[in-house]
Amino acid sequence: MPATALACRICGTEFPLDPIGVCAKCFGPLEPVYDPGRTVTREQIEAGPPNIWRYAPLLPVPAPAEQRLAPGFTPLVAAPRLASALGVGELFLKLDTANPTHSFKDRVVAVACQKALEHGYRTLACSSTGNLANAVAARAAAEGIEAAVLVPADLEPEKLIATAVYGATIFAVNGSYDDCSRLSVELSFELDWAFVNVELRAYYAEGSKTLAFEIAEQLGWELPDAVVAPIASGAMYSKVHRGFGELLELGLVDGTRPRVFGGQAEGCAPVATAFAEGAARVKPVRPNTIARSIAIGSPADGDLAVATAIDSRGAIHSVPEEEIAENIKLLAETTGVFGETAPATALGALREAVRRGELGDEDRVVLLVTGDGLKTPALVADRLEPVLVEPDADLILERLGVPA
Ligand SMILES: Cc1ncc(COP(=O)(O)O)c(C=O)c1O
Ligand SMILES: [Zn+2]
Repeated sequence: MPATALACRICGTEFPLDPIGVCAKCFGPLEPVYDPGRTVTREQIEAGPPNIWRYAPLLPVPAPAEQRLAPGFTPLVAAPRLASALGVGELFLKLDTANPTHSFKDRVVAVACQKALEHGYRTLACSSTGNLANAVAARAAAEGIEAAVLVPADLEPEKLIATAVYGATIFAVNGSYDDCSRLSVELSFELDWAFVNVELRAYYAEGSKTLAFEIAEQLGWELPDAVVAPIASGAMYSKVHRGFGELLELGLVDGTRPRVFGGQAEGCAPVATAFAEGAARVKPVRPNTIARSIAIGSPADGDLAVATAIDSRGAIHSVPEEEIAENIKLLAETTGVFGETAPATALGALREAVRRGELGDEDRVVLLVTGDGLKTPALVADRLEPVLVEPDADLILERLGVPA
């Protein structure tokens, strides 16, 4: 096992590799620490399975003996038309819509679930803005255990159905995501459920590093100049940066650590606001945004995300609400990829970075398409303007002005 302990990010106290949510001394967040002498080679990784478990030597849990419904190794595709529309040198889309439940959350849940199974839990649980609930429900079904999720009651119905179908128990909370999150912490003391984003958070968050590992490997073991990601709790954004750092430390790639850019929707932009104001501390807000999947008003890793933006020489931008559906359409029309509000918000941040001259035609950029637009189609329903016709080819040709 390459991981040796959990360590507190604030005071450094170490704990065993168990399901422990926070530091017992200072309540700080915990992170796995790895054997500093570990060696990992490209060949070793390349010989692994075509999913996140090829990076098991870089993860805090061993690969499952039987890999069911394994996420990861999703396509990285060039998007030249969008690149020239935006004015960036080269643009790639990381299509995490190709994961089993169509979002990057399958990565984090797969890692957390390994820890849950190791400790004999029979129920996988979470608080969620939607996609995480889908991933927890599917993972539990794949492993033959129960799932219970806490979500805001007014989430998009498609997201709730995509959780219910797997047989999960859904607690539709009359409140916000932040209420669900608080409830999950309180319930975690009382129930023997494995809450992936409470006591398994240290393992869960590590799963996002696989995005960085895959991008580097899929670029032929090269680093892009910049990566653009949506931000909710800030965990994925920060871990992608860490992931690139680890590849450099281990000598798996050379070069400069990519700049990481983050996007938040204007109606829930506590991290973007803290970044813009140069504040070290994120102030919680009450979310009011159409980007429901990233509507977290009190982000657990918000401060870390601000520090990550500064450390990587990136930026975190707030994206106007009215630009989000527009960006879903822009992405779809120029690349053939139907992303949801989260990647559309990241695209908004990319557009803003280009407007400000932070990114441009010299840069090779990767946009993380972390979730699928098919889960929230109502947002772009105004696009549906079909040409109503009778079942008669002559009438259609006439409409098209084609002479008979
Ligand atoms: C599709 C999608 N992208 C991005 C995020 C943001 O992830 P994080 O909470 O790690 O910042 C989420 C979170 O729910 C999401 O559902
Ligand atoms: Zn501590």
